[in-house]
Amino acid sequence: MSGPLLEITGFRLAFDGYEGRAQVLNGIDLRVEQGETVGIVGETGCGKSVLARSILRLNPTPPARVLTGGIRFAGQDVLAMDGPALMALRGAGIGMVFQDPQTYLNPVFTIGSQLADVLRAHGLRGRAAIRARSLELLEAVRLPEPAALLRRYPHELSGGMRQRVLIAQALAGSPRLLLADEPTTALDVTIQGQVLALVADLVARFGLTLVLISHDLGVIGAICRRVVVMYAGSIVEDAPAEELFAHPRHPYTRGLLAAVPDLERPTQMPAGIPGSIPSLRDPPGGCRFHPRCDLTMDICRREAPRLSGTGHRTACHALAPNQDGYAQVRP
Ligand SMILES: Nc1ncnc2c1ncn2[C@@H]1O[C@H](COP(=O)(O)OP(=O)(O)O)[C@@H](O)[C@H]1O
Ligand SMILES: [Mg+2]
Repeated sequence: MSGPLLEITGFRLAFDGYEGRAQVLNGIDLRVEQGETVGIVGETGCGKSVLARSILRLNPTPPARVLTGGIRFAGQDVLAMDGPALMALRGAGIGMVFQDPQTYLNPVFTIGSQLADVLRAHGLRGRAAIRARSLELLEAVRLPEPAALLRRYPHELSGGMRQRVLIAQALAGSPRLLLADEPTTALDVTIQGQVLALVADLVARFGLTLVLISHDLGVIGAICRRVVVMYAGSIVEDAPAEELFAHPRHPYTRGLLAAVPDLERPTQMPAGIPGSIPSLRDPPGGCRFHPRCDLTMDICRREAPRLSGTGHRTACHALAPNQDGYAQVRP
């Protein structure tokens, strides 16, 4: 296959409700090449999970409604997929890991029987084959004593172990893309690090493409080589991770970076970004970030900036191209 593994173009999605329409995704343009590790970061409520669910067509419609744009995976039109193609997309094309391992494991069935269900859904047949593959998957996610684990119930496992089981399930269909939405947010900090290390290890071992979603830039920076920053339903910056951490351009990205506590100067308070994300039912006109921005110009209130640039993309009127790359128009 040539072309990107995942390609999202001009994608806009709204939720219709009693109180009106919330335009949650406001024109997303994103290409992910085979083998890339891409992190998507942004404050809670900016549309990251809705975007993840859009890629798998998991948003309930209604209330969700695609207004414009398209999503292609491995060259195929995701929005046009029917039942069998969608089944193949979810699992064999894309393995998905969600935030809360508790919610996605059934408390009344053993780990073995839940893994077996997933493997059967992917077409695997025969008790011996299912058992062998289950053990292989549990070993892949580095769970100790996999044979004993098959007989255990979710409540007998720690949060970190449960998340490993869900990662094993996500790998069950041998997906090309791993899509992980806040996979470590519900876990203790030490366990977080271990699960992230596991994800990085699986990506390298199986040659997976990774899209990792987190509100935490530290989590993204730990394992992703490219970072996409979202604000209120739009991508505002997209750059190689090293470049983004060293030379952030968008005022929102700079704020996010300032909010990451400085470990070398632990007494310094994080600066952060004043204000909070706007209502998506009645978002500010023009650039949705303008009410919180310290570079706001007239045009920012009138016109939404386009995401422009190659390699390092930014959507900001206050950043204008010149020969040295990008420079701010105003201090
Ligand atoms: N099923 C739904 N119906 C209506 N609104 C929704 C639904 N799911 C998400 N939203 C809204 O979409 C916005 C983005 O949510 P979400 O993608 O979960 O944010 P994030 O993952 O970045 O924290 C929020 O305003 C949320 O209330
Ligand atoms: Mg979310």
